Amino acid sequence: MRKVTLANIYNHRITQKYVRRSGMAHAIAVAYHAFDLAKEYGVNPDVAAKAGFLHDIGHYEWYSDGEWDYQRYRDYDIHPIKGAERAHKLLVRLGEDKHAAKEIAHAILLHTDSVLPEGKFHFSPLQKVVHLADESDKQPGDQHHYQRIDKKKELSLIQELDRKIDDYLSSKVMEQG
Ligand SMILES: [Fe+2]
Repeated sequence: MRKVTLANIYNHRITQKYVRRSGMAHAIAVAYHAFDLAKEYGVNPDVAAKAGFLHDIGHYEWYSDGEWDYQRYRDYDIHPIKGAERAHKLLVRLGEDKHAAKEIAHAILLHTDSVLPEGKFHFSPLQKVVHLADESDKQPGDQHHYQRIDKKKELSLIQELDRKIDDYLSSKVMEQG
């Protein structure tokens, strides 16, 4: 039994405020991709889906005169750092396992290379999964941040993914038992 579901996270006001900024549809799509990739990479799909869902929670609104200002975003943005911290605080508050919260925060910190110095790095399977899941939903002109679906649909997709995670985890328990 999971302590925290995606629906618990989705329903929290912090998620509604910050994940919505960078696009709820994108966050949900990345959570689904992360769930699928997790099985391929031997990663816990619950942890992967949560990290995928929250990966952009650190976004700030870089608007100038009502338009997204890419230059300011490139120059000043630190969303992976803010996101890692914000997601960690939210998850711990909701009662998430502290080890999982740490893994998720690290995967969010490293989901884009913007925080990394030059060089070769060894990423954990979870970190790879979250990065690849984000890449899988990228669209030309950053359209993935603007896709909209209605709130009922959002919640039903989140609940559907919760069911998939529960089914997967209970099938693993049966295999072991
Ligand atoms: Fe993203």
